[in-house]
This record gives sequence, C-alpha cells and structure tokens, in this order.
Amino acid sequence: MSRGACRLAVVKLGGGAITVKELPETVDYRSLEEAALQLAEYRSNGGLLVVVHGGGSFGHATVARILREKGRLSPLDSSIVQESMLKLALIVTRALQDKGLKPSLHPPHSLCINDDLSTCNLKVIERDLEEGLTPVTYGDAIPVGGETRIVSGDDLAAEIAVRLKADCLIYVIREPGVIGASGEPLQTLRDVREVRVVDMKWDDVTGGIIRKVEIALKASKTVENVIITNIENLSRALKGEPVGTRIKAYNL
Ligand code: IPE
Repeated sequence: MSRGACRLAVVKLGGGAITVKELPETVDYRSLEEAALQLAEYRSNGGLLVVVHGGGSFGHATVARILREKGRLSPLDSSIVQESMLKLALIVTRALQDKGLKPSLHPPHSLCINDDLSTCNLKVIERDLEEGLTPVTYGDAIPVGGETRIVSGDDLAAEIAVRLKADCLIYVIREPGVIGASGEPLQTLRDVREVRVVDMKWDDVTGGIIRKVEIALKASKTVENVIITNIENLSRALKGEPVGTRIKAYNL
C-alpha cells in the first residue's frame, strides 16, 4: 500500500552511492545523474526537498589519508578536507542544476559552530525552501577545540529532518536496502541488531551502516517515513511506495 508522496523530503545521497569508492576523488556520474533526475521529477510534482550528500572517495579518503600519514587531524587539517568536500559538493550542485533544480549550497563548517548539530543555523535552509530553492549540504570537517571533527551527512540529514519537521528522510545507499540476517534486504527494521554486518572494504570514518541505522532509528521517533534505499528506487520512495528498508523504532 502506498503511504502518499512526501511533502518535505530530506534526501541523503550516500558517498558510496555517488562516488567510486576504490578511486580517490572520483564521481560515479551515472548514479549521480540518475539521482538528480529523480529528485528533479519529485520537485516538479511540488514536493519540497533538502539534499545532503556524503563524502565517499572525497571526504573519507582524504581523512583516511591524513590519519595514515599523521595519526590525527589537527584543526588546520580541516581546510584540506573541506576543500575535497567542496569539490564534490560543486559537482553535485552542477548535476542538480543540469536537471533543472535550483540548488543553494551550504557548507556545514559555515552553518555549524561545532559538531554539536544543535549549533547549526538551519534558518538559511528554511529560507531557501520558502524561496523555491533546493538547499544542499553535506558531511564535512569542522575545527573544534584543537582538533578536526568529522560531521557525517547522515547525522546532518536527520537533524534537518527532525528540526524542519520533514515527513520523509531518505538515505540513498548502493544496496537496495539494509541487509538482514538472511542476506536479503529487510522490509522493515526496528532494531539495530537486525542488521547483518559485513566487512568494510574501504575507508569509512563515520561508522558505516550500523551508525546510519542508529541515526535513522532515532530520527524515526519523530519523522514519519524514514527509508534506506538505492538510487533506482529513489523516485518510488519519494512517491510513498514501499521500497527499500523502512526504519521504524519500537516504543513510539
Ligand atoms: C563524511 O560524510 C564526510 C567526510 C568524511 C568529510 P558521510 O559520513 O555522510 O559520508 P558517506 O555518505 O558515508 O560517504
């Protein structure tokens, strides 16, 4: 049964879904353009949209390289991670422009004082929505108290969805959903223990699928529709069709 189309959707495009993990700073243009097309279709049907994207082979690879070389991230290292993420962000906004959206880009290191996301100024995101733009933000590096903290796009997407009272929070990943114990994607997920953990084959500095599910479960206490799915099913998820894995925490 369909739950009706999203009215305000926060869509997190996972770095793993729009970049080529194995190759440093390499975009998967086919996937990115496909996602942009589906988002533009949703907007043209009147839905409001906030786009958040991840780091993939840009942010994660840069952070992992610095950690390998120096063992830690100084506050000054945020600069190079921010640059890498801005490169990807401009490629994402260009792809959205090309499909007719009007993206407005907000780097989190300018929106948020630190990695406590309650410090992020989301008024500018609300302003963009009121003006008909599509606000875009992403996972980023923020200098905090003598170090660099990595803010994940997953957290930021949940924060935006909760604070702006979005009815949909959609996490786009490579796989069709969250894989359960049977090896198949779960239709509904209510507890993080249902997730089957596979080895991480690449640098992920923000915690992978378990952390994503934990954030999604928490957000599902206030956001009506929290879905984890792939690019192929993004449009259907935005239309309210039952695709991917629906995240719904117990004890609502
Ligand atoms: C990571 O953001 C940002 C940096 C590493 C700077 P995410 O944690 O949202 O990235 P993905 O989606 O897992 O690639």
